[in-house]
Amino acid sequence: MSTKFVLFSDIHEHAVFSCRALLDKRFFGLMNSTFCRHGDYRMERIDAAVRTILDPLRPDLVIFTGDAVSTSDPREFEAALKRLRPLVDSGIPILFSPGNHDRYVRDRACREAFERFRAELTKHCPMALPGVYETPELRFVVTDCARPFTPVLSCGEMTPETADFLKREAAKDDPRPLVCVGHFPLLGNDDWKSFRHRLIGGGRATALLNAGKIALSVAGHIHAPFQRLDARGRGELVVGSLTKKDILREITFDNGVFTVRDLNSAGEAVPPLS
Ligand SMILES: [Fe+2]
Repeated sequence: MSTKFVLFSDIHEHAVFSCRALLDKRFFGLMNSTFCRHGDYRMERIDAAVRTILDPLRPDLVIFTGDAVSTSDPREFEAALKRLRPLVDSGIPILFSPGNHDRYVRDRACREAFERFRAELTKHCPMALPGVYETPELRFVVTDCARPFTPVLSCGEMTPETADFLKREAAKDDPRPLVCVGHFPLLGNDDWKSFRHRLIGGGRATALLNAGKIALSVAGHIHAPFQRLDARGRGELVVGSLTKKDILREITFDNGVFTVRDLNSAGEAVPPLS
């Protein structure tokens, strides 16, 4: 028996204008999306990736490590959900860890739109976050570390309660390896270059990963894909942006080993990352 899951991340549905966006951080996100990102993030890659996931990949599970949108305007969530609709309707369970752009501002309409989006996307495996999803061979802990921050920071924050939750799951007497699903990478939070993007409070989870109590961490946030995996595929895999980098990651767990295969949205193999 083996378990196959497909990951994608950071699709960043384009920002849309609203007058209310002039009053808060959305103004910065709108400028960034319109003038810096628009041409680089190709939404048609979502449609292609959805078709590829449904046929021929047909995984047991799909993992989306967050940043569905740019400024969390309700219309962005509606557009993202429309593109992902065939995947939702397929019945394949989707695990989703929110990104900082999904919780961009405190505006009530944006927060409610996010909750509607998340509920619909994950309707085949609903859970409160942090939460656990189990297969016969693996256990997945899905975390939620996204918070609205100031315009200059793109950080996440892991609460002590989430770190405790991970610790309890990691301490369980269960032979199935633990996979941590989050938007923010657990490794590399201590270097000055990551200051604006770091996971605040993530130290205890990083220690669990370094000790092997978490077998694999999968994350988004950084748009260039990379991985730090050992010979058995244990460590951390940063998925990369589907719409910018045109990448899907397929992981097969078999006989205690995670094997990664990298594909573009059309399902063509791309050279393995170092
Ligand atoms: Fe992010």
